[in-house]
Amino acid sequence: MRLVTLAEEDDFTGWRDAVRALVIAGVAPDQVTWQVGETASDLFGDGSPPAGTPVGAFSVPRAFIDLARNAILHHDPERFALLHRLLTRLGDRPRLLDDQADPLVRTAEALAKAVRRDIHKMRAFVRFREMADDAGARYVAWFEPEHHIVRANAGFFVERFAAMRWSILTPGLSIHWDGAMLGEGPGATKRDAPDGDPVEDVWRTYYASIFNPARVKVAAMLKEMPRKYWKNMPETTLVPQLIASAQAREAGMVQAARVKAGSNVEGAWAALRDEAAACTRCPLHRQATQTVFGEGPVDAAMMFVGEQPGDQEDLAGQPFVGPAGQVFDRALAEAGVDRARIYVSNAVKHFKFEQRGKRRIHAKPNGPEIDACRWWIEQEVMLVRPQVTVALGATAARSLLGRTVTIGRERGRPIDLPDGSGQAWITVHPSYLLRLPDEAAKAAEYARFVDDLRAAAALVA
Ligand code: URA
Repeated sequence: MRLVTLAEEDDFTGWRDAVRALVIAGVAPDQVTWQVGETASDLFGDGSPPAGTPVGAFSVPRAFIDLARNAILHHDPERFALLHRLLTRLGDRPRLLDDQADPLVRTAEALAKAVRRDIHKMRAFVRFREMADDAGARYVAWFEPEHHIVRANAGFFVERFAAMRWSILTPGLSIHWDGAMLGEGPGATKRDAPDGDPVEDVWRTYYASIFNPARVKVAAMLKEMPRKYWKNMPETTLVPQLIASAQAREAGMVQAARVKAGSNVEGAWAALRDEAAACTRCPLHRQATQTVFGEGPVDAAMMFVGEQPGDQEDLAGQPFVGPAGQVFDRALAEAGVDRARIYVSNAVKHFKFEQRGKRRIHAKPNGPEIDACRWWIEQEVMLVRPQVTVALGATAARSLLGRTVTIGRERGRPIDLPDGSGQAWITVHPSYLLRLPDEAAKAAEYARFVDDLRAAAALVA
């Protein structure tokens, strides 16, 4: 038996180095005991692999690294051994991760998913309270994560709250930002965190910017915002009001819903959305926080399809709520289109990005990813049966028409969709407008975009 001691519960690098040495040395997973502690173990007694051990590297699919990086943060003590077993099996079956029926793959995916949810929750539910120390105001928050996610999440808070001095206290670890450097300290108890009101104004502003009451989904909100976190949150006072207005809207929507021959469209749509939440049709689900499904009334006469959720949509779980969404909202309003009456979705339902330092940089979905996700948009079109579907940009157009589209050539005229699915109208993506460097061109292109939306809306009978 070999004993491997990792420095920390979230020591991915230590695990990776040890497992690489074990695989190269041909040590079977059941010959290894993993533990976390202070003293690093010497895997091979004298520090070198046994004689005859093949020396060198072996390649591991990128998807496995991504999976392992998250799964390692789970609190399950078996995770190190489980990932070692999975890695060993990948040697014989490099495509093993695509086999969602494989119990080991499923378990590892479930660990990674639980970790991603916990990361997301910490981002959404940490609440700072203002204190003063020698250097002035310091914002302190208490949070109890389920998994070992605090270090992995620190970069997010540094980026979001770079200008504040803050501490996040958790039972296992505390992290501190002094405006320039991130420090770490031992775990804390809730008593160490200040009581009293959180920094209401800061949080109400922040909350209002990420949460659009006009689009609240009560069930989803309650699911995403477990009651145990409510007491920490200043915006909790807003919740009853949000729920009341959402319920009134929902009742109105149900009343107004078209009765579609013999089918329960609302129910079918909800089932479809729930199914999409567990989508693993392409590898993008591994990296993203959650599926961002379409939203809006299921009897909408107009549907809008974007490319894929961005950073903010990935966190919020709603389409077009970030910077491109703001341009979109403004243009819709100028075109006389009420966002509450349209159905808004994306060609690809998971955020694709490249991690650069602390930032998640949008990456364009490729053909296979768009095609894998087409199934969802086709179902959405079938349920909603819009008269007009507006494709925002080339990815959406490809998804809707099933072929590569040059926007300049096909923009500005109705295109019949197959199977009586109404008409498509193709225009640019709002983020294209954000990227234009020249102000005059930006204004002209924006006006053309608004014209496109107005012309598409005029197609509705
Ligand atoms: N860009 C998109 O295409 N969709 C979104 O939801 C956000 C940005």
